[in-house]
Amino acid sequence: MDVFGVDIGGSGIKGAPVDLERGEVVEERFKVLTPRPATPDAVADCVRQVVRHFGRPVGPVGVTFPGVVIGGTTRTAANVDKGWIGKDAAGLLGEQLGTPVTVLNDADAAGLAEMTHGAGRGRTGTVVVLTFGTGIGSAVFIDGRLVPNTELGHLELRGHDAETRASTRAKDDEGLSWGRWAKRVGRYLAHVEMLFSPELFVIGGGVSRKADKFLPLIEGVSAEVVPAQLENNAGIVGAAMAASAAPSAPSSAA
Ligand code: BGC
Repeated sequence: MDVFGVDIGGSGIKGAPVDLERGEVVEERFKVLTPRPATPDAVADCVRQVVRHFGRPVGPVGVTFPGVVIGGTTRTAANVDKGWIGKDAAGLLGEQLGTPVTVLNDADAAGLAEMTHGAGRGRTGTVVVLTFGTGIGSAVFIDGRLVPNTELGHLELRGHDAETRASTRAKDDEGLSWGRWAKRVGRYLAHVEMLFSPELFVIGGGVSRKADKFLPLIEGVSAEVVPAQLENNAGIVGAAMAASAAPSAPSSAA
């Protein structure tokens, strides 16, 4: 049975069966638009549609969520419906799908995939994976081990929640040039560097495809800064990895 990964994002909910060895989707991913409002029940229904679309027997399913997730319960909801706060998301989605579901933070999922199959492969020491999109997500790794739910996108920078200034949403909303946005991203990275002294930053999110437009413009950061390699599928792959590693997954239970 295939392990599935599903990525809940601000604009779309997308998923696919995943080849865990290769860290790739097995089939073209399928996407439905994120419902508005993105209440838990409405989103759970979309997750079911995405998984059913493939018409395959479903093994463990991993689902990303854009907020803090502890023990399957969603704790924060910065950019989604507040009805998620305190929700047993793994239970709700598990009921919808009739299979064990693992829920984890979206940046943590993307980070797991990048550390195993992408830009962070084989890297030791402290690595910070940041995803730039509607918000800024973070995944911190120490010698390859994830410290979950770090939420570095909400660091305060010059009196602002950092993601309101340096996310790609801020770039779009304020019509910032690549240069002006890169300046903000550089300031943000320098702040994270001051706090964590990572050896490597991996820059993910959809904008990683345009790394050549802004990475060369980033100044004031000593650590190596590289673009993510899995692009749009990092969340899906990382979610599937987490599901297969969960205690409820058939292989690890055996
Ligand atoms: C949330 C994080 C999430 C990030 C990217 C932030 O607003 O607090 O949990 O990882 O957005 O979606």
